[in-house]
Amino acid sequence: MIRYSALLCLSAVLLAQSSAKDEAKDAPKAAPNNSTPPVYTADGRLVFPANYREWIYLTTGLDMDYNPDLAAMPGHSMFDNVFVNPEAYKVFVATGTWPEKTMIVLEGRMAANKGSINKAGHFQTTDVMTRSAHIKDTRFPGGWAFFPLDEAKPTKQIPKEAVCYSCHEQHGAVDTTFVQFYPTLLGIAKKKGTLAPGYLKEEAAAAESSGKN
Ligand code: HEC
Repeated sequence: MIRYSALLCLSAVLLAQSSAKDEAKDAPKAAPNNSTPPVYTADGRLVFPANYREWIYLTTGLDMDYNPDLAAMPGHSMFDNVFVNPEAYKVFVATGTWPEKTMIVLEGRMAANKGSINKAGHFQTTDVMTRSAHIKDTRFPGGWAFFPLDEAKPTKQIPKEAVCYSCHEQHGAVDTTFVQFYPTLLGIAKKKGTLAPGYLKEEAAAAESSGKN
């Protein structure tokens, strides 16, 4: 019912905007100019989202050690930056969860400590080590899929058996995503009651064991 009236409302607005123009018929199908849904090739590969750096910034982790790539780089530090497409972010802020066509990009960048005037701490370099995307789309069984990203060419989905899926499903705070590490979103999910039961259980167990110590 709600959906139906929202649709009516949307077409009313579109109709008003395009008034007598011939294109009015096609307008509801066209994506808005700033729209950033995932784009796939005919054989289901993901087209590199070239403007993801203009999306909404969620967090930066430093040397988070769940990443198997990091373990292989002793003595090196890596930052991971997370960005989400703006449409999905807006819906999350309103509802506490992700809409269809959410795309979240994880970018791993090599850290350095010597450079320019820097004397202590680490900064991010131009060296991108890894990039991947997590996408919510009903075209995938389970509703979500991971893709590696490659600037040069479209990429194939990471198979469902990969460890990515199980860790995210078991430990992600909201709908298989790691909202517990996205500081501007965690409070929203708490307020909206969208935290996953598995995550709440882990938190309760952690609180109990720290209470005992
Ligand atoms: C052991 C658990 C674990 C595994 C395995 C794992 N991740 Fe993650 N992933 C995380 C955590 C924790 C974050 C949050 C990162 C941050 O806060 O910077 C994350 C965040 C992400 C994000 C950002 C969107 C989101 O869902 O929150 C992407 C994209 C991502 N991982 C891709 C992958 C891919 C691809 C693989 C498999 C190759 C993978 N991950 C395997 C724990 C895991």
